Amino acid sequence: MKQNKQKITMLTAYDYPTAKILDENGVDGILVGDSLGMVVLGYEDTTQVTMEDMIHHIKAVNRGMKQALLVADMPFLSYHMGTIQSVKNAGKLIQEGHAQAVKLEGGQEILEDIKAIIKAGIPVMGNLGLTPQSIHQLGGYIMQGKTEEQVNKMLEDALALESAGVFSIVLEYVPAEVAAFISSKLSIPTIGIGAGVGCDGQILVTHDILGLYQGSTPKFVKRYAEIGIEMEHAVQQYIQEVKQGLFPREEHSFRVEKESLKRIYGG
Ligand code: KIV
Repeated sequence: MKQNKQKITMLTAYDYPTAKILDENGVDGILVGDSLGMVVLGYEDTTQVTMEDMIHHIKAVNRGMKQALLVADMPFLSYHMGTIQSVKNAGKLIQEGHAQAVKLEGGQEILEDIKAIIKAGIPVMGNLGLTPQSIHQLGGYIMQGKTEEQVNKMLEDALALESAGVFSIVLEYVPAEVAAFISSKLSIPTIGIGAGVGCDGQILVTHDILGLYQGSTPKFVKRYAEIGIEMEHAVQQYIQEVKQGLFPREEHSFRVEKESLKRIYGG
């Protein structure tokens, strides 16, 4: 798709119905991101997400999909305990969750883990720029690639990941010019989030674009719907109708035949 200058579309999903809608409407890739922790499980950040959390949700997403590529995030500390542990954990996401590829955050510091996972036959997606699993080190959700030093390091990391065999790299919260520059230096596609239009594809968190996540959303998110507000209206109306005896109505109720009624009550 990169060679043909076709933009790649990706979105996140964490459950069966959402995966089904994304897949049936033609998204190219679905990521079960560890954003799961924040938008679905109510954690403060992604560092609390476990392998068990991921596998549970990847399985549900997989059941809703037929055509898109299913990528799963490797959660915090699942690829930092040595290459054997990294391969085992990546393997679990494939074998138990039925993901088709895994995504890891970081550059040259995790290169050995990436190489070992690829050697085991598992496709790997990289993630550079803002890497939310390291927010405590980065000092918050801060844009990356603002200084010459950061840009040089990001380019070196991207080239090293490409040489190691990753099939694509997510560039997260990076100035548009920097993301476009890095994309032009790679033959593999970059997928941007908050990284401008110069990437080869885009990804966003589905709960953000649908207005389902109540927490703060970054400036790079575009809201395509306000499903959260729709849900509020529906729930309020339901409560009101039940309290007022307006629901259920005749069409939502079941009746027994008059003859049976007579037999039951002897009337
Ligand atoms: O966890 C996630 O949803 C992600 C995307 C934001 C790229 O990693």
